[in-house]
Amino acid sequence: MEETRITGPKTLKSKPLKTAGTLKKISEIPITGLKRIKTDIEEFDRVLGGGFVPGEIILLAGAPGVGKSTLLLQVCQKVLSARGGQGSVVYVSGEEGEDQIALRARRLGVKSPNLLFLAETDVENVASALSNVDDLTLAIIDSIQTMEVHHIESAAGSIAQIRESSAHLSQLSKTLKVPIIATGHITKNFSLAGPKSLEHLVDAVLVMESDRNSSFRILRSSKNRFGSTSEVGVFEMKKEGLEEVEDPSAVFLKEKTEAPGSVLTVAMEGTRPMLLEIQALLAPTSFRHPKRTVGGLSYHRVNQILAVLERYLGIKLKYYDVYARASFGLRVYEPAADLAIALAIVSSFRKKPLPSGTVVFGEVGLSGEIKRVKDQEEREKHAGKLGLKSIVSSDTAKTLQEAVGVI
Ligand code: TYD
Ligand code: MG
Repeated sequence: MEETRITGPKTLKSKPLKTAGTLKKISEIPITGLKRIKTDIEEFDRVLGGGFVPGEIILLAGAPGVGKSTLLLQVCQKVLSARGGQGSVVYVSGEEGEDQIALRARRLGVKSPNLLFLAETDVENVASALSNVDDLTLAIIDSIQTMEVHHIESAAGSIAQIRESSAHLSQLSKTLKVPIIATGHITKNFSLAGPKSLEHLVDAVLVMESDRNSSFRILRSSKNRFGSTSEVGVFEMKKEGLEEVEDPSAVFLKEKTEAPGSVLTVAMEGTRPMLLEIQALLAPTSFRHPKRTVGGLSYHRVNQILAVLERYLGIKLKYYDVYARASFGLRVYEPAADLAIALAIVSSFRKKPLPSGTVVFGEVGLSGEIKRVKDQEEREKHAGKLGLKSIVSSDTAKTLQEAVGVI
């Protein structure tokens, strides 16, 4: 809990849009300003819903060090080169000095002369600097936690400052009709440090995630007023910055382990099918209550699957700690992953891997039956394209007992 004392004349409320309050027919309101600005980084555009919308304010959230600043510098460069030297982009940093930014820009090969830098933390100064830039295409604020509004007493990074700064920036993006993208640090368990209440002030929230030891970075949107929230973008962090992973399935297939407890499944990430690995490990428990540790999967579904396995396969899971996770920092909450989770657990229990090249998907019902899943054909086709011919699904097994026959 944090006490917020407001001394200035202004209140914390975001200012309303300045339009005359007359009734209009929605069908007759002209659509303006929806001409999207493409970044030409396809994985990024996809998550945005096809590019930036002018006047849009976006929050890019992620744990410190995940690569937010890196991605945004690359976005700046791409936006400028896509427009053939027209327009300018301003990168405002309250975290890093010009030396640091310049060094990173050189390393990333970012050298557009129309990319301007501003080291500033006062939102009003940022606003006046941005208003004076000719043909501004995009502005970056790195990070929202360093921005402050001087009439609020509390320190930068406090909830009151973050909210007020965001409200100001949101207003600014609407006035200038320029997209603004601000970064925000979040803690490891994916709660925005402080500014959870900030979500309603912005048009889109993009979250960048990664597995601790993986070089892959997953970009997804948790809110998007101008696109779907189910699309993900996949990147890999390299020495020269973030690289798009155009065919994540092929990359994940190469990285998969052939050990017991590892199972391949096809998940639907928005409109595209994606191959991913689910891992499980069973270890004899030394506690009275066995531990269940779940990452990137639904905790509730994993527990349900454990109950079904215990009942219908007679595995005494209460003597084991269970670890279950989706690899590469991905998350799968769809029921279609049930069967893969179940087989990963059984495979670890029997200490036997699945035959190589096996793909598993299917929903597991409470009586151990296997149900057809959404987009089943599309998943099958995707597995086929990757050369994975042996599929375990509701087509090949009606019950869990039948399905575990492959192990
Ligand atoms: P950064 O963009 O500074 O993270 P954030 O802004 O989210 O805090 O990324 C920092 C990490 O990325 C750092 O640990 C080093 C790594 N990195 C690379 O591997 N390659 C690169 O080209 C760059 C610029 C960074
Ligand atoms: Mg940074």
